[in-house]
Amino acid sequence: MKITFYGHACLGIEVSEVHILVDPFISGNPKASDIDITALKADYILLTHAHQDHILDAETIAKNTNAVIVSNYEVATHYEKLGFEVHPMNHGGQWDFEFGNLKYVNAIHTSSFPDGSYGGQPGGFVIEGERKNIYIAGDTALTMDMKLIPLQTQLDLAIFPIGDNFTMGIDDAILASDFVQCDKILGYHFDTFGYIEIDHEEAKRKFFDKDKDLMLLDIGESIEL
Ligand code: NI
Ligand code: MN
Repeated sequence: MKITFYGHACLGIEVSEVHILVDPFISGNPKASDIDITALKADYILLTHAHQDHILDAETIAKNTNAVIVSNYEVATHYEKLGFEVHPMNHGGQWDFEFGNLKYVNAIHTSSFPDGSYGGQPGGFVIEGERKNIYIAGDTALTMDMKLIPLQTQLDLAIFPIGDNFTMGIDDAILASDFVQCDKILGYHFDTFGYIEIDHEEAKRKFFDKDKDLMLLDIGESIEL
């Protein structure tokens, strides 16, 4: 499994030769200006919720790639009405896709579209892929529901928002890592705008002090699991 960070909460995931793109927000992110969205591959676009900083480029990329948009029922239906191929899910539900098993799990946050219309309830995703399992928390507070994940899935990587203000910050993400029983963390949803700027060294040190590994990737950088 290869995971590429495209800035903010946008990830590219390559598993079993399938390309997954999560929460595309690139054209609106000046820090990601080196990423060419027309060059991105996507068989599936996963959307955690309807906020602008997670869906901005979904339509453009879905048009370019014919990707299937996977999200909660309300977000999926929104894109279905626009003519896109979708796969609606809801909390606690899972489905076997060609890349592995995908479960839509709880997140504590909000989920309105940029025009204020209802975007369902926000979520995260657990992917049980070929030999590796990951949890993409989405925008969320620390929540006890995270403790449910390791009852069913032994995670190899947890991807947590760490920018604070709109989501968990560093200290809550450390507790979240205990809750999901995974000490290997990829941080996202930080530095994009002023409210969520973090001190990278301090963040890494806080995880390190708890015997955990926080990875912070440069935009465009990849890791292999
Ligand atoms: Ni959000
Ligand atoms: Mn967000």
